[in-house]
Amino acid sequence: MRLGPPAIDPRTRDDRRSGPGLSEPPLAASPRRPAWVEIDLAQLSRNWDLINQAKPPGLRVLAVVKDEAYGHGALAAAQTALAHGAVMLATATLDEALALRAGGIRAPILLFGARPEAELPWCLEYDLVCCVGDLATARRLAELATARGKPAVVHLEIDTGMSRYGVRWTAAAPLLAQLASLPALELAGVMTHFAMSDEADKTFAHEQRARFDQALAAWTAAPSSPALRHLCNSGGFLDLPEAHGDMVRLGILPLGVYPSAVCRRLPGLAPAMSVRAAVATVRDLFPGDTVGYGMRYRATTRRRLAVLPLGYADGFPRVRNQGHVLLAGRRAPILGGVAMDAMMVDVTEAPEVRPGDEAVLLGRQADEEITAHDVARWKGTVSYEVMTAWRARLPRVYRHTPPAATASPPPRPQP
Ligand SMILES: Cc1ncc(COP(=O)(O)O)c(C=O)c1O
Repeated sequence: MRLGPPAIDPRTRDDRRSGPGLSEPPLAASPRRPAWVEIDLAQLSRNWDLINQAKPPGLRVLAVVKDEAYGHGALAAAQTALAHGAVMLATATLDEALALRAGGIRAPILLFGARPEAELPWCLEYDLVCCVGDLATARRLAELATARGKPAVVHLEIDTGMSRYGVRWTAAAPLLAQLASLPALELAGVMTHFAMSDEADKTFAHEQRARFDQALAAWTAAPSSPALRHLCNSGGFLDLPEAHGDMVRLGILPLGVYPSAVCRRLPGLAPAMSVRAAVATVRDLFPGDTVGYGMRYRATTRRRLAVLPLGYADGFPRVRNQGHVLLAGRRAPILGGVAMDAMMVDVTEAPEVRPGDEAVLLGRQADEEITAHDVARWKGTVSYEVMTAWRARLPRVYRHTPPAATASPPPRPQP
């Protein structure tokens, strides 16, 4: 026999949350760690304003806040998005959605992906909208909804080329008909997801859109259905206006980062996240001295070195003699290999650097900037991984900058 809907307050699951920004120090009053992620909420708001100005009127926006809104803190990002007109939120896991509910978010939340059966009662209990792509899940949801006397709201996901979640486009029409025969199910949306919306070559994106249209054209109920059609992520929103449908799903763009180097730009958009640390110690390096594990750097001349109290266990890539941080408004090259909790940088050109000075690992300092795309290049990855890699042990600090303070200098073009 199955258990009924859980009578559990999501807050009782708080101890299981481990995402960035959510871990509290054991003593709330203990000094904050001298390495942190800073989120500029005013910039986040400006980004939403720019997106709202750029979008066609009437186009709805869903804010993707999975993985703590790519490391920015899901609650703060969700509240900002909703205050700027987002009609819906999306997360990837049940726990992420429950944390939003526990934080007081009442807006509709779409759960991306496929749900294991054990999660379905939770979804109904907490008014979470499931993506469905198979009849078995739809039927189980309908059964649970019938028992509760309240319809289960779902979006049908159609796989048009990601080969990830959803029903294959060629099989979507019969499934749509079957869903329509389940009165306890409310089909509130039909969606697909682009594999390559942010590349210059849009051939496959156009193909995916054609497959989506084809699947829906074969669905006789379509013309009268109130279901929202949504296909676009940030890349699609920027570059595929013909595919906007009724709603777009934006994750990276409101955070001020473009999904790629080639997609359309929104002037004024800038990253809301920066990563900072206070210099721990400063020391001299003499010819012949080596730096760090594996002795990856050996000084040939006298140099000055600053030690920063964070490393790869905080999400900075484990690079060796590659990349830089910003210190005293200049680029300070990384020397040797980045360690778990520390990294060494060359400040020979900035002799004024002292312990306690603020270094920037991601973001702006004076006229210099390190973008997520820069760090991604050093790491051989994409900006998405850089943003989501900052670990929970880096405290999140939320800042409200008045617009004038950041109006100048203008953000450097990305990446
Ligand atoms: C289904 C789905 N839609 C939208 C998004 C948001 O993508 P982006 O961050 O590029 O806007 C994601 C993120 O991976 C996603 O999985």
